[in-house]
Amino acid sequence: MIIESIKLQQFRNYEHLEVDFHPKMNIFIGQNAQGKTNLLESIYHIALAKSHRTSVDQELIRWDAQQSKVEAKMTYQYGHIPLSLELSAKGKKAKVNYLEQAKLSQYIGHLNVVLFAPEDLTIVKGSPAYRRRFIDIECGQMSHIYLNTLSSFVRIHKQKNALLKQLKYQSSEALKIQLEVMNEQFSKLAIELTERRHLFIQKLLEYAKKIHCDISNQSEQLSIKYVSNIDGHIETEEALNQFLNDHQHKEIERQTSLYGPHRDDITFHINGYDVGKYGSQGQQRSTALSTKLAEIELIKEVVGEYPVLLLDDVLSELDDHRQSHLLSSIQNKVQTFVTTTNIHGINHSILDDANIYTIEAGQLALTNERERENND
Ligand SMILES: Nc1ncnc2c1ncn2[C@@H]1O[C@H](COP(=O)(O)OP(=O)(O)OP(=O)(O)O)[C@@H](O)[C@H]1O
Ligand SMILES: [Mg+2]
Repeated sequence: MIIESIKLQQFRNYEHLEVDFHPKMNIFIGQNAQGKTNLLESIYHIALAKSHRTSVDQELIRWDAQQSKVEAKMTYQYGHIPLSLELSAKGKKAKVNYLEQAKLSQYIGHLNVVLFAPEDLTIVKGSPAYRRRFIDIECGQMSHIYLNTLSSFVRIHKQKNALLKQLKYQSSEALKIQLEVMNEQFSKLAIELTERRHLFIQKLLEYAKKIHCDISNQSEQLSIKYVSNIDGHIETEEALNQFLNDHQHKEIERQTSLYGPHRDDITFHINGYDVGKYGSQGQQRSTALSTKLAEIELIKEVVGEYPVLLLDDVLSELDDHRQSHLLSSIQNKVQTFVTTTNIHGINHSILDDANIYTIEAGQLALTNERERENND
């Protein structure tokens, strides 16, 4: 899939912006705080109806405005579709082909993105919450069913926690029966989520293993595992339900749900050791890179089209070998958006067939022509 053009109104530091993109490579050069990340964030936002750097949607609206709007013209193998996402104090309004979507879960997935930013190292070495967020976002953009299951699970998880708090101080038969009913629903959704996440990690690993092996010149074998927080294997909803009922007293005592996918994790191992704990910074960076490149291939397998790739401030951070590897693996198949403060760190081979823009205080200028003239 390709983003032909984008239009921003009152988004972050962009008052109004309309820009056409190159089908392959788009490079944005600018000093700090000019709006490079904001532009990539607008693409991420119209794709996933959320930001990658804040959970407070209102922050995306320009300071002196009441609402923001992002529009994108998409081209797929089968045709063109416009997308739009409006944000105001009332919430979000998402449209596909000018038709408002009743549920965001129906909207998400029309534009698939893979974002690689410096903070992605937290996937490898940060807390488990980052890794769960990673799985949820990636599974969510490939499957409406996953998104629906996840939102039902989040709802029941909250309700169960409230009930556990109540039970701690007021133990009645009626409340206990309520907990058992809730555990049944909880178990069903928990097992469904866990199965889907397992499958995702398994498929992701198939690609990541090969990519990582290449990046490391055949010296490192990567493995990724989904780790359940319940000891021993619980694979059916009946077994989980039984387990939860057997361990009720613990959950009531702690007033919170102790067991389930909200506490699961994934681990990354290179040649058998934990990369988050023992890996060098370069190995952690390669692991994050292999994982992102694997995601691109997995989205292609599941969705049938390549996603767009957003590289925020990372390309010039990669050494030559990793940069060439990344560029050769996306060449001619993945529309890419790169930000950088300095074009000198970027491999020359990609500059010929690319649009190069400068960003200054929320204004964009295409510089290809000017540069060519200067060189003449
Ligand atoms: N809601 C908003 N309304 C107006 N301006 C905003 C809003 N949110 C952020 N900004 C401004 O956007 C600027 C930051 O832009 P951005 O994060 O895109 O910078 P950048 O070009 O990526 O810089 P760096 O190279 O440091 O990463 C900040 O100066 C900030 O003041
Ligand atoms: Mg930035």
